[in-house]
Amino acid sequence: GLRVLEALAASGLRSIRFAKEVPGLQAVVANDFSARAVELMNRNVAFNGVGDLVAPGMADARYPLLFTAPQQPTPKPTGEEPFDVIDLDPYGSPAPFLDAAVQAVSEGGLLCVTCTDMGVMAGNSAETCYSKYGAVSLKGKFCHEMALRIILHSLDSRANCYQRFIVPLLSISADFYIRVFVRVFTGQAKVKASASKQALVYHCVGCGTHHLQRLGKVMSHGTGFKYGAATGPPVGPTCEFCQQRHQLGGPMWAEPLHDPAFVERVLAALQSSPGRFQTEERMQGMLSVVTEELGDVPLYYTLDSLSSTIHCNTPSLLQFRSALLHAGYRVSLSHACKNAVKTDAPPAVLWDIMRCWAKIHPVKRERLAETSPASRILSVEPTLQASFTLRDDANPSSRKRGLKRFPENPEAFWGPKARAKAG
Ligand SMILES: C[S@@+](CC[C@H](N)C(=O)[O-])C[C@H]1O[C@@H](n2cnc3c(N)ncnc32)[C@H](O)[C@@H]1O
Ligand SMILES: [Zn+2]
Repeated sequence: GLRVLEALAASGLRSIRFAKEVPGLQAVVANDFSARAVELMNRNVAFNGVGDLVAPGMADARYPLLFTAPQQPTPKPTGEEPFDVIDLDPYGSPAPFLDAAVQAVSEGGLLCVTCTDMGVMAGNSAETCYSKYGAVSLKGKFCHEMALRIILHSLDSRANCYQRFIVPLLSISADFYIRVFVRVFTGQAKVKASASKQALVYHCVGCGTHHLQRLGKVMSHGTGFKYGAATGPPVGPTCEFCQQRHQLGGPMWAEPLHDPAFVERVLAALQSSPGRFQTEERMQGMLSVVTEELGDVPLYYTLDSLSSTIHCNTPSLLQFRSALLHAGYRVSLSHACKNAVKTDAPPAVLWDIMRCWAKIHPVKRERLAETSPASRILSVEPTLQASFTLRDDANPSSRKRGLKRFPENPEAFWGPKARAKAG
């Protein structure tokens, strides 16, 4: 059976749920460095009758000793095998616990990591983000997905120190937090590919256009691979569309956020036991959008920001998606943002589509400053003739099926509570 460590367990609620709801576990260690928490956990574990599976432990989760040293009094209940699953659910940032976790998890084991410091990760304090995650966050429309890519970058680069690397299974942005599920493997050769999996982001402060710059390059070489420096930059000194400057963010994980086969299995499991979870509808909606996301296209634009940049009214999602499909590109939603446009169309195509839209929905140009991004973008003739004729395939299946894809307005008692008082 699997061995699970909940390194920051507080009341032990989650560990108790693991014990009661996940069949075939060998042991669950519910750890917290607070004596009061451990006392509560002991009570909760006894109360729930899971004492045979859940062992409360008291150690500092920042140090790998917790995970490995046999001489530690707690929390090793059985044997000395490593943990197959390590769950990190901190107040705020998991950064201090990542090093220990990437070292300690078993080969191919699973890390489940929550971050609730979304201000930091979504661009409000880029410098703090760098100190915690080794990446500069940006305040772009794509900030929620970028937050996911920042924690994945951090996990991979810390794993790399120990010749390990991550493989994401599922990366979720929900409400006020993000949570990623990644497997960790060991392999000196595979770690060499990690630089090429990360990218810097150039983000135009005027029109919001973004470009990625990978940190490394992989080339196939005989039966193996050769690694080298990436070439760049992907942008000039100013934005080609609006002539303003770029902000530089990242590095962030630029590979897929999810393993589609895994997500399909989770969806199938959900469908095979209806009524099992209160949040079933929301999970089904969110995971369905996840399966539709273009895995090979990091980040996204939003319809509102594309329209507000050029001061025009907003095309409907179906119109805009149809235009992209007519032009021969792929497009998807993102679970991380309600009106996201994730597409492999280059920014020049997006702006051409917006220019065509503005031709049929004219913008009052006289009110625009000549140097504004709107004027600069609209002063160029589109080279593409966009068609907004609706296409059936422009409507994503999750939307057609009427799934509950995005959270409703908050209910009473919604959101994180204040950190518990010491005592
Ligand atoms: C957000 S709570 C965990 C909630 C829990 N996962 C749940 O689902 O109910 C974070 C916990 O981490 C504990 N903690 C903070 N720093 C720690 C450290 N260095 N080592 C161990 N536990 C720590 C705190 O005492 C607190 O109980
Ligand atoms: Zn620009």
